Amino acid sequence: MAQDVIISKNLQAELSDAIGRISPDRLFVLTDTTTLSLCWPVVQDFACLREARMITIGATDEAKTLESLADVWTALGEGGATRHSMLINLGGGMITDLGGFAASTFKRGIAFVNVPTTLLAMVDASVGGKTGINFRGLKNEIGVFNEAETVVLDTHFLRTLDSHNILSGYAEMLKHGLISNRQHWTELLRFDISAICSQIGTVGGPDCVEDQPDRSEHYTSLAHLVAESVAVKERIVAEDPHEQGIRKALNLGHTIGHAFESLALVNNRPILHGYAVAWGMVCELYLSVKLMGFPKDAFYKTVGFIGDNYGRMPLDCRDYDRLFELMTHDKKNVAGRMNFTLLADIGDIRINQQVTKDDIFEALDYLREG
Ligand code: GLY
Repeated sequence: MAQDVIISKNLQAELSDAIGRISPDRLFVLTDTTTLSLCWPVVQDFACLREARMITIGATDEAKTLESLADVWTALGEGGATRHSMLINLGGGMITDLGGFAASTFKRGIAFVNVPTTLLAMVDASVGGKTGINFRGLKNEIGVFNEAETVVLDTHFLRTLDSHNILSGYAEMLKHGLISNRQHWTELLRFDISAICSQIGTVGGPDCVEDQPDRSEHYTSLAHLVAESVAVKERIVAEDPHEQGIRKALNLGHTIGHAFESLALVNNRPILHGYAVAWGMVCELYLSVKLMGFPKDAFYKTVGFIGDNYGRMPLDCRDYDRLFELMTHDKKNVAGRMNFTLLADIGDIRINQQVTKDDIFEALDYLREG
């Protein structure tokens, strides 16, 4: 059954419907410390959540651990959860991934609903049924495919985000543009993301920005792009839910990007997922130009956008061997062979591509030297 993804017009009504469809005996809401203070206040007075028990874990990807997962299982158990209970994951990708995994495994699986609050979670993590945690320094090493009953996507939460988190999600949107069509890709490059990012100081709250109409216009345009972006992901996931084929298109930028992210994590200098993907896309588009004939004009435009908005990846050539080693652990690998997703053109996807170590190092050189 296809996952129900709702672009919200009335969060309270849609959430109430999603809960009503299951009629759980107990309801739990999972947040992290950040979404507890910024996003929970938006929904805490909803009648449908009156009886909900709260579970809160640490924020950021560093909390996406076995320990946090055990804390959620414990809270569900101590709160009297049964197989007929439901978990609502209110947060970014860490919460929807970890909460989805906790729900999928508790008593062999309870229902869960995702309410993504970050751009990254809206356009990627909360949709498509990938759940999991990081393990032994590797991203999303342990997890299962299991779709949320419903994903309710309310773009008002975007107003709670700082510029780094907006950009982090926008990298996945850019990826959806590259793997879909020139029209969507062009819209994404033309959108003045800096107009949103430059107006955001520190992390705000949903109420504190409502009265700034100039920003509202940009958020409205962003919300339209988000809806298109989610539709790209939904189309691909519906065709290949368990990543046997075309879903690998969604891994563009991720083979090298995940290695950047894992290295940063073990070095205790974590970088946001979307930044790692943006820099990973520079490398993988470089490989696409070299090996697949990806058009150079589209390459330079995309790389220019990434350079202008994401800056330079802090990269040292002494890290190359370690990065290569991390790539050998990629979940897409088959029989020890790395499988890259490359492009012959925008929307012309080539999955399962083998790339030599020399070519990977050349792509890293391109990123490092700019
Ligand atoms: N984030 C890639 C996927 O959902 O397949």
